[in-house]
Parts: sequence; structure tokens; C-alpha cells
Amino acid sequence: MKQTTAKTTTTKTVKPAASAAKPATGTKPVPSAKPTASAKPTAAIPEKKIKVLFATTEAFPFAGTGGLGEVVGSLPKALNRLGVDARVIMPLYGSIPRKYRDKMQYIGNMRVWVGWRNQYCGVFRIDNDGVTTYFVDNEQYFLRDSIYGQHDDGERFTFFSRAVLECIPMLDFTPDIIHSNDHATALIPTFYKACYALMYGHTGIKNVFTVHNLEYQGCYPPHILGDVMGLGEDMRGVVDFNCQVNCVKSAIESADSVTTVSPTYAEEILRPDRAFGLSDILNRNRSKLVGILNGVNVEEYDPETSPFIAKNFNAEDPSGKAECKRALKKELGLEGDRPIIAVISRLAGHKGLDLVKGALCRNSYAFENADLVVLGTGERYLEDFFRYHASCHANSRALITFDKSLAQRIYAGADIFLMPSATEPCGLSQMMACRYGTIPIVRKTGGLADSIKDCRAGGGNGFVFEDYTVEALEATVADAVRMYGDKTEWSALMQRAFACDFSWNASARKYLELYKDLLKK
Ligand code: GLC
Repeated sequence: MKQTTAKTTTTKTVKPAASAAKPATGTKPVPSAKPTASAKPTAAIPEKKIKVLFATTEAFPFAGTGGLGEVVGSLPKALNRLGVDARVIMPLYGSIPRKYRDKMQYIGNMRVWVGWRNQYCGVFRIDNDGVTTYFVDNEQYFLRDSIYGQHDDGERFTFFSRAVLECIPMLDFTPDIIHSNDHATALIPTFYKACYALMYGHTGIKNVFTVHNLEYQGCYPPHILGDVMGLGEDMRGVVDFNCQVNCVKSAIESADSVTTVSPTYAEEILRPDRAFGLSDILNRNRSKLVGILNGVNVEEYDPETSPFIAKNFNAEDPSGKAECKRALKKELGLEGDRPIIAVISRLAGHKGLDLVKGALCRNSYAFENADLVVLGTGERYLEDFFRYHASCHANSRALITFDKSLAQRIYAGADIFLMPSATEPCGLSQMMACRYGTIPIVRKTGGLADSIKDCRAGGGNGFVFEDYTVEALEATVADAVRMYGDKTEWSALMQRAFACDFSWNASARKYLELYKDLLKK
């Protein structure tokens, strides 16, 4: 494999140790005279930084398809602000924008075994926005037109998982913790325990595995255990589930800690009807399961500074929101003075869009006095349905595309944000909507239940319904549209939405506690 996917420099830059050159911030300069035995130390010895390596197949701003990319794009930064040394490692996809590739620095290359195959693996590095990210290069595996859904995903992600562990000695960074995320990096804890735990340069590393969505488990035919993963039959019990290799199941068995992205989802997935087959495995490993609610990148999703919206605004002076609504209506050709209900989502049935479709199909009274704006791509039947609905209703728009700046214009200009998911491990959009004073209507599940409280019960930052039925959705939408008509009540509700703290601060602290506890064990 060639090393041409990023600008290469063959020299490895070794930076001088900062501590040798200047004293750590906050410490007094050390006097040149030798201290006497009785002299008191002038500063406490700084606590050793915890080193965490996030292994991921998505991280913004480099590459991503959704929530996982958002999380890995912002959690390491938040951890670094707390004094952690958190770094990221991901594949070097062909789609990573040129402006980042040009800044990458070549670290080195090696060969990685993938079963009997011996594959090239280049390693690059970039320091961007307070976080170091390493890239694993292999054009055969990663120069593709999409991240997932390739015929050889089992082999590609086995390669990546092995490469993460193999390249550690090359990084000048031995992590205390490897934090893997979702099915594509789920083999790392298993490979670590089976092949690397006793290896020089790898001992003592703890493995954290985060489930962002249990629905996707990385299931492959059983023969890949030896042929691709290079593991012996003795590992079959750990890796197999229902006669298939199941990467997420093997991570749950092998990791030192299993986290998921909200406390409610952590409870839900212990139930057989919510665990996509893995409830027994999760119950058996219950003691290592925790739910930590995600945050959002509050700098990126900030109506006060966003360059994408017609007029900036904030909680103290939300008047710019009306301007944003006017601009959005003009952009989409909407007329009249109705509340705008927005859906910004992957268009999938389980995101609750089957319910929305059900309501719209019967010309629901609830949507009559509102405009509907749908933004997203996804399942074909839903893309077609929303396009069709928009073509025959003057108050409906379907924007079948993935466009982050348009998303911000919609968050800013809409009044109500609809997210009636059947299951939702965390969900980030409901939090982003609150940042823009756009009131979420959610179903009570997973992270939606943890982040949005029903204003009809007093207080609350949105509307929450429980039954996954068209009727329950309609009744809630109707209540929201009615309440929108009462300007005093609505602006109090908007203030409560603005006031929510969905930054990473609290969540990053919880991860830090978890890392500290693990390292004590
Ligand atoms: C997945 C989940 C979503 C979560 C995101 C980030 O995309 O479906 O609920 O917010 O991961 O953890």
C-alpha cells in the first residue's frame, strides 16, 4: 500500500519535553541555589494525567454520519479541559477534507495481520482544536465511498481494531485507557485480552466500551473468527452469539467497563424487548454497565455566535429568533403565521417517523395549524413519503439532504422540534433544539426521557408522551400548537429550554470519575 493518502513528511518531529524547558503553569520559578534539606517544597507534585485513546470510526470534523461523530468530536476536548490527555484514533478515509490532510504529519508504517493476510498500515497525526487525532491508513480498506455497509466490513474493522493495538508503541503515547465506541471498534477489548494484555508496552491498559446504539452489533459469519480475526476456537464462546460472530457481544464480555449514552437507556437495554437479543449478556455483565448522558458541542450549536443564521440571539434577547423564522420561511416559501414544526433526523421508522407518517396520512387535525419542515436522508419509503406529502400540502416541506448549516437555520427558525423516537439511546438534536429556544416534543425513552421534561406537568423544557401511538403523538402536537398561541406561556417555556445546560462539562466529569475508578482496580 502506498503512503499517498496524506501529505507525508518522513521525519518524526520529537518535541522537547515541555516540563524540561519551563515550569508548569502555576508553579513558582525554582531558585537556582540548591534547596536545603529543611526547605519546604514550593508546589505540590502535579497529578499524573490520565491518558485515554478514543478508538472510533467517526469523529467530526474529519468524518462522520451522525451522533457518534458528534460525540467523539467533542468529548475528548471536554476531557482535555479537565486535565486528561485524551486523543483519538480513526481510519484515514478518502473523504477526509483536503484542508485536514494537508496538515497531517506522517508518523510511520508497519504491517498488521488480519488472519493470514499481512496488511500495510500507515499512521498519521494531526493536532486540531486541542485534540491530537491519529489516522490509520490503508487505502484498500478505507478509500471507499462510505464508512459502513461494505461487503468486507468484518475484515475492514478487524484490521482497524488490530491496527489500533499494534500501533501504540509507535505513537509516543501509551494510553491508560482505550475507549472504544460501537460495533466497528468493539473487537478491541477482546483482541486486547486475547493477544496484547501481556505484551511489552501494552500491559495494564483498561478497556472502556461505549454502546451508542445497541441495534447495530457488527454480526458476521462464524468463520471470520479464525480466517479474519486470527483467533483460536477457544475464543468462540466470547465472540459468538446465535451462531454468528457478534462484535458488540464480545465487547460486553471483554471490556472492563461498558457505558451507554444515557442512564435510562442503560436500564432499558437490560429488558429483553429492548436489547436486540443481548439482554442476558448485559444482565450478566450488569455490574460494569453505566449510563452517562451525552452533551452537545455548545460552541458549534450556539445561536449567539452561529454564522449560519439570519440574526444571532440569546436567552436575554431572543428577538433575533423571529428574524430567523422570517428568513427560514422566505427560504422555504412558507407563508402565514403558524408555528413551524421541524424534524431533523435520519429518516428511519424507529426514529418515530412511522408515527408522523401515520398521522399525516390521516390528515391529522394536530398538524393542520402548523407548518412542517423535514430535513434528513434515510430509508427510501420515508424519503418518498415526505417528498410526496410536501408536494401536495402548501404547509409542508421535505428537504431530503444532510446539510449542517441548513440544520442550524431550521433549529433557529422553527418553533417546535419533533423527535418521537421508538428508541433513542441518547439523541442530540433535542438538546440542540433547546439551545435555539425551539421546543422539543419527544417520546419518553432513553436519553429523550433524561433530557426533556414535560411542561404540562409544571416546569419542564418540552413535551413528552409515553405511548408509541399516533393518537398519543397527535394529542401532544395539538397541545404544543395550542400552547404556542399563548405568547406569555410560550416565552416562559422557551426560557426554560434556553436555561438547560447541555454542555459536556457534567458528562465529561462522569467519564473522568469512571476512568479514575477503573485505574484504581
Ligand atoms: C447514536 C444514537 C443516538 C446517540 C448517538 C451519540 O447515533 O442513536 O441516540 O445520541 O449515538 O451517542
